[in-house]
Amino acid sequence: MFSIIKSIGEDMNRYIRKNLGPLEAKEICSKYSTEVIASCAFGIKSNCFESEDADFRKIGRAMFDFNWRNGVNQAVHWFSHSWAKAFKVGFFEPWVMDYLNTTFWDTIKKREESNVKRNDLVDILINTMNNKELLSENSSERDKVIGHAIQIFLAGFETTSSTIAFTLYELCIHPDMQDKLRNEIITNIKENNGIITYEGIQNMNYLDMCVKETLRKYPVLPFLDRRCNKDYQIPGTNVVIERGMPVLIPMLGLHYDEKYFPEPDKYDPERFADKNSINVNGLYYVPFGEGPRICIGERFGLIGTKVGLVHILSEFVVERTAPTPVPIEFAQKSFILQSKVGIPVKFKEYLPEDS
Ligand code: HEM
Repeated sequence: MFSIIKSIGEDMNRYIRKNLGPLEAKEICSKYSTEVIASCAFGIKSNCFESEDADFRKIGRAMFDFNWRNGVNQAVHWFSHSWAKAFKVGFFEPWVMDYLNTTFWDTIKKREESNVKRNDLVDILINTMNNKELLSENSSERDKVIGHAIQIFLAGFETTSSTIAFTLYELCIHPDMQDKLRNEIITNIKENNGIITYEGIQNMNYLDMCVKETLRKYPVLPFLDRRCNKDYQIPGTNVVIERGMPVLIPMLGLHYDEKYFPEPDKYDPERFADKNSINVNGLYYVPFGEGPRICIGERFGLIGTKVGLVHILSEFVVERTAPTPVPIEFAQKSFILQSKVGIPVKFKEYLPEDS
């Protein structure tokens, strides 16, 4: 998939070059991550860079833009799942789910008819549906497979775009860090004969440190959610978490706890210089969650994020402008971590000093 992701990085850079100047970084990153997940997982070209009104972007905006309907529906899901079930409250609006359902079924049908194998998620879904041991003919079970496809799409695009956009935000207010990272990227590309390679990206240590620090300061999901499956008394207290109770684990609180991260408001990639120094006395850095429900797309999300950043920073300088919010204010009513006013920045062509 690396070459597919890279070619989308190139499309993104062409788009930025055409629109140089003040731009909404989050929107560009969402176009990129939507293309990445749609192409890599489903073999669908979503045309996000070709059209401002591409269907997949409309869907993405409808899912994560905060409006009262999403707010109420999603709050019911987090806090009272039984109500959501009883009153058939959908997490997202019905037309969004219908669109994704139809699109993914069409993709599966076309793939089955063409008999082509791409070794991607669509092939896996088809194999799963045809495996009688795993799935019965029962249509609701087959619908669950589509449910998984939708979940992967959802979980895949907003997370990656948010991580790239918040990194660009921090780098535009810390130009020294931006220069250091660009230096690393350009040196690495030169050493690989002018090509961005998978192995090269694995060797970009400062890039890894910046992404880790972004995920600390801006964990996409500010809290993890679980449901207690048996009564549990918290040791040393009289507090009992009852079976069925929703449990929200405040990831944002852990990531800003001074005990683990001194001066937590400061963006400081050096915290991650020593890979072995994190989570030594407990589990307090969990940007991908933990346990049996840990993110299944961690490696894919990280490589998508890094390829995006490498493309942008090797060709452009990102600058703070008057509307860039400093400090950033988070949208309080959104269930994911979002800036209240987006991430407006300025993109300028990068001109090496010796050019
Ligand atoms: C930087 C990128 C990403 C971040 C920060 C991220 C973060 C997370 C977090 C915090 C969770 C909840 C884990 C828990 O409750 O313990 C999660 C779950 C999940 N993620 Fe990611 N994710 C990213 C990228 C992706 C990508 C690219 C995909 C798909 C290709 C993906 C698929 C999923 C799925 C399917 C789940 C649900 C797992 C389950 O409930 O069993 N994620 N992710």
